[in-house]
Amino acid sequence: MNNILVTGVGAYLPKKVLLNKDLNKNLNTSDEWIKKRTGITQRHIVSEEETTSKMGFYASKKALENAKLSSKDIDLIVLATTTPDKTFPASATSIQHELGIINCAAFDIQAVCAGFIYALNVASSLLKSGQFNKALVIGSESFSKILNWEDRATCVLFGDGAGAFVLEKSNEPGWGILSSNIQSDGQFSDILFTNGGPGTNRKVGTVEMNGKEVFKHAVEKLADSLHKAVSDSKIKITDIDYIVPHQANERIIDALAKKFNLPHDKIIKTVNIHANTSASSIPLAVDWGLREQKIINGSMLALNAIGGGLSWGASIIKFGKPDVDL
Ligand code: ACO
Repeated sequence: MNNILVTGVGAYLPKKVLLNKDLNKNLNTSDEWIKKRTGITQRHIVSEEETTSKMGFYASKKALENAKLSSKDIDLIVLATTTPDKTFPASATSIQHELGIINCAAFDIQAVCAGFIYALNVASSLLKSGQFNKALVIGSESFSKILNWEDRATCVLFGDGAGAFVLEKSNEPGWGILSSNIQSDGQFSDILFTNGGPGTNRKVGTVEMNGKEVFKHAVEKLADSLHKAVSDSKIKITDIDYIVPHQANERIIDALAKKFNLPHDKIIKTVNIHANTSASSIPLAVDWGLREQKIINGSMLALNAIGGGLSWGASIIKFGKPDVDL
């Protein structure tokens, strides 16, 4: 059992949609500025009932249906989130409970917008180690709850939602997660952070960001991790069917595409409709790509993200199962 396959994908978006024009009612901003600087036109925003764990549960159920598995088949749940329901217990355990799973390990991972790549790396390593058989890897975020809605430089950028992958083991060479890398550099923790935390001021805090600095590091570090992932998986950049980058800003995505000389039709872009949903952005984008029939069984995908920490990483995946139409 050497390979870890991605055999199911699911997503959930909150019902409420907030358009750019809704934001300029209380904020000195405009639809034009937001679209031009970020590509964002709208974002989904959670209601009181749509908690991080509930959204993660809905996305997981869809991913299990997509993989044609029952919740009882899952023995590992890894949830990437920066906006858990509570400081503890891990929201992954609430998802486990909602799914009715008893014999399972469930925990949260915190790597902000790079969280899904981290969770994928950790879960696939645990499966490979032989300790577990089938995993749910989830990204779920209620980022709207940690935004300062008076700070136009940050609040217009984010949205809420959840996405999930099912991981299974396989003996088939050349399928599944072909390579994965994760990296962090805490010297940049002051360019993207929350101004609160249980261990400092007992508060949750709100997001603060030096956008220009983050932008600069984003393009450079996304490119480095993508190069490494391509080289480690022994493929060529031209073998990739779709790059699914973290959806933070259309200009970052375009700069990455330019660095690799990639045509626009090879990039999955959902930042326009989802905004930056942090750890959920990649599985939400993969789910969108599947529904648009761009991503199909056997597609070669490159997933790539950066977030607070700074933390970043990339993964190359031959998506789906050998000889099966998902
Ligand atoms: N509406 C109107 N004007 C605005 C807004 C707004 N929403 N926000 C900022 N401005 C103004 C600024 O005040 C500034 O005005 P000034 O020139 O009078 O001082 C002007 O627009 C330019 O501001 P900049 O910050 O220089 O704008 P920039 O072009 O850098 O775009 C942005 C800002 C969109 C944040 C960009 O820097 C960016 O996307 N950065 C990266 C974000 C990112 O990748 N995050 C990923 C990780 S997120 C995570 O891990 C949680």
